Amino acid sequence: MTFQFQNGSIHYEVYGNGPAIVLLHGFLESSAMWSPLIPLLSDTHTVITMDFPGMGESEQIAEVHSMQLMAEVVNALLQYLEIEKATLIGHSMGGYVSLAFAELFEDKLEKMILLNSTYRADSSERQKDRDRAIRLMGERPRAFISMAISNWATTGSQEIFKEDIEAYKTIAYDFPVDGIIAALKGMKERKDTLEVLKNFPGPKYLLLAENDPIIPAIETYNEATKAGVTTKIIDGGHMSMIENKEALLEFVQRAIAD
Ligand code: MLT
Repeated sequence: MTFQFQNGSIHYEVYGNGPAIVLLHGFLESSAMWSPLIPLLSDTHTVITMDFPGMGESEQIAEVHSMQLMAEVVNALLQYLEIEKATLIGHSMGGYVSLAFAELFEDKLEKMILLNSTYRADSSERQKDRDRAIRLMGERPRAFISMAISNWATTGSQEIFKEDIEAYKTIAYDFPVDGIIAALKGMKERKDTLEVLKNFPGPKYLLLAENDPIIPAIETYNEATKAGVTTKIIDGGHMSMIENKEALLEFVQRAIAD
């Protein structure tokens, strides 16, 4: 299904019945990543998936897809579906958007479940990586997509989960180049949201992976725990839905049941 946000058509799907849960994918991912989770939640909840603008089947809506703009798309979808309050589950960039949503629409957020994600802004080194990524995306998009997705998994996982990783890449190769660049620009300019996380009064959870090349597990665990977040570290790299699926599903189910 689709709904219109500003000048773009946004793809979403709705499953099941009950309190609402919105699943927010990460960068270079799409709502397809959630297929293992949907049947586990949709007996007891209304589960909503969506593709962020410029990814999956959603159109690009701006030159920069800031985390706030994407949070506004989530809010518009909830309004469109006449849902007053929802739990957000966000993988990586989807977690950055969940935090932007918490800042903008705190009253509409029931629970926040962040997977392989962080409240930290990009370091200056990481911002330089974003500039390199933007250049490479303009010149050799396929090479960038392939390298980025492979590098999120540990070396061991790249071999063991080759097919799943290739399936993610195949989906991402079809995204519009400018849509991917818009998300890179949005992530580069996002601000630190540790205070937002600390101040969010509802239940909050964070799943980290020991060898995630993007999110430093121990440091993030310590800070998040201090901020009142129920935090857990599991094995594997940044792609827990592939590399450690059972642990991720268990973590989410417990957080939802809590
Ligand atoms: C993601 O998985 O959403 C991205 O890797 C996050 C990032 O690049 O910061």
